[in-house]
Amino acid sequence: MGYYDLKKLENPNDKTALEKKHVPFIEAPDEVKKGEFFEVKVSFGKEIVHPMEEGHFIQNFDLYAEYYQLARVDFTHEVKAEATLTIKLEESSKLRVFAYCNLHGQWEGSKDITVVE
Ligand SMILES: [Fe+2]
Repeated sequence: MGYYDLKKLENPNDKTALEKKHVPFIEAPDEVKKGEFFEVKVSFGKEIVHPMEEGHFIQNFDLYAEYYQLARVDFTHEVKAEATLTIKLEESSKLRVFAYCNLHGQWEGSKDITVVE
């Protein structure tokens, strides 16, 4: 399984067990004020918690606003795979998270945020 094999949720009404564990779950307001800080919580996953064991864990995730990288978070297997970041946006954007599981490869999750003046 290579880096180019990016996986995301195929059908929200029929999630596979792998999707439930790996698709990054993004909690953030639907609407924020331009340039004002707000919190974004990323976890894995919503329905089934991804294991954090020596041989199987979420190694990292990158947070993007569209194609602009905002942050990278690295994990060891001794840490719960979740993080809350405080960010600000200048314009409405799709927040995108790319996460890497050492066994199951790279996964994308996203959430649209509307920015108001
Ligand atoms: Fe995994």
